[in-house]
Amino acid sequence: MSWWLCCALVFLDISIKWTTQETFPPKYLHYDPDSGRQLMCEKCSPGTYLKQHCTARGNTLCLPCPEHSYTDSWHTSDECVYCSPVCKELQHTKQECNRTHNRVCECEAGRYLELEFCLKHRSCPPGLGVAQAGTPERNTVCKRCPDGFFSNETSSKAPCRKHTNCSFLGLLLTQKGNSTHDNVCSGNRESTQKCGIDVTLCEEAFFRFALPTKFTPNWLNVLVDNLPGTKVKAESVERIKRRHSSQEQTFQLLKLWKHQNKDQDMVKKIIQDIDLCENSVQRHMGHANLTYEQLLGLMESLPGKKVSTEDIERTRKTCRANEQLLKLLSLWRIKNGDQDTLKGLMHALKHLKTYHFPKTVTHSLRKTIRFLHSFTMYRLYQKLFLEMIGNQVQSVKISCL
Ligand SMILES: *[C@@H]1O[C@H](CO)[C@@H](O)[C@H](O)[C@H]1NC(C)=O
Ligand SMILES: *[C@@H]1O[C@H](CO)[C@@H](O)[C@H](O)[C@H]1NC(C)=O
Ligand SMILES: *[C@@H]1O[C@H](CO)[C@@H](O)[C@H](O)[C@H]1NC(C)=O
Ligand SMILES: *[C@@H]1O[C@H](CO)[C@@H](O)[C@H](O)[C@H]1NC(C)=O
Ligand SMILES: *[C@@H]1O[C@H](CO)[C@@H](O)[C@H](O)[C@H]1NC(C)=O
Repeated sequence: MSWWLCCALVFLDISIKWTTQETFPPKYLHYDPDSGRQLMCEKCSPGTYLKQHCTARGNTLCLPCPEHSYTDSWHTSDECVYCSPVCKELQHTKQECNRTHNRVCECEAGRYLELEFCLKHRSCPPGLGVAQAGTPERNTVCKRCPDGFFSNETSSKAPCRKHTNCSFLGLLLTQKGNSTHDNVCSGNRESTQKCGIDVTLCEEAFFRFALPTKFTPNWLNVLVDNLPGTKVKAESVERIKRRHSSQEQTFQLLKLWKHQNKDQDMVKKIIQDIDLCENSVQRHMGHANLTYEQLLGLMESLPGKKVSTEDIERTRKTCRANEQLLKLLSLWRIKNGDQDTLKGLMHALKHLKTYHFPKTVTHSLRKTIRFLHSFTMYRLYQKLFLEMIGNQVQSVKISCL
């Protein structure tokens, strides 16, 4: 191709664009038989049809489309197009027909158009989630749930969901999730139970007042009979007796009784106070983030029988950081025939120096002990308890002596 032809074509192309852009309304060539000339007539606008071509004397005559018909562009047609009849089954009218637009039909909710049919949106099976929800024009798009996400349902709406973050909830991950199953977490928010601290420091402080100075074989039954409210069942008492040593039996019994009577005003008050106490202990102790070595050292410093390293390791696995020490202390108490934990802890504190404990830890331990020993707490619980069961238990105590 020679250069001038090339240039000529480019020029032609430009000039055509130029003229079509220039002419508005758009025009068309028409041979007018009357004048025997080629005329440039205006096209008809959308919504009209051509009634008469233009002449040397007059413009093109366009008339509005009759009802139920339309034209949607500039054109030279002498008739309008009929609108599509009413919408098909499973469709509804999205836009009614008017002179410039055909009727628009659309599949009803939950369906999309495939060829001529409104088909149901696809449901994504377990393991797959909805990446793009279906529309009247398009089917659902499913995608495989990526790592860390799951879908356990067949659904045309549900996207993949994030696995529950057990540690975020303060729970333990007991079964790792996959694309079809959520993570399974264990325990509940009452994490003291999950971690297995069966008698907390506060309960111990509180329940200690119910301990007789000397245990007799039927001590527990006497206590059961004298506690107000709903009685602890005989089977439960037997179970407690079988499983626990004498002091622990008392604690467990009171705990059960407290639980069974938690709706009674008197017990509500006790529960409230114990909760307050436990929050305080958590506040003091919770900050004592102890490493394995430190826990080991602390347990070593407690007098009497030692908590085994296996127990320490298990506790590190099953209890949250802020509960580990409390759990180990409760294990120590049980191992040592229900020794007073606070006394044990005070003993330990004196011997901790050799373990290079951080000051903050020993400080918070001291504060906890002081708090639990505090005169107000002590008196409050004593008063509460004595008020609660009155002279009954006192007389039992005396009779047991
Ligand atoms: C005709 O319908 C279209 C939508 O389908 C709308 O945009 C347009 O404004 C309507 N024209 C008249 C004259 O009602
Ligand atoms: C899907 O997982 C959620 C969250 O773990 C659960 O609540 C729901 O019951 C599960 N549904 C089915 C059908 O398994
Ligand atoms: C779970 O939550 C903890 C915060 O408690 C965060 O550090 C961790 O990244 C979260 N894990 C996931 C998988 O989101
Ligand atoms: C996902 O885990 C569940 C139980 O947690 C198991 O039954 C299922 O086979 C696992 N699916 C895959 C694809 O690994
Ligand atoms: C204790 O450890 C936990 C997790 O191991 C951490 O999130 C927290 O900030 C630590 N607290 C302190 C006071 O160091």
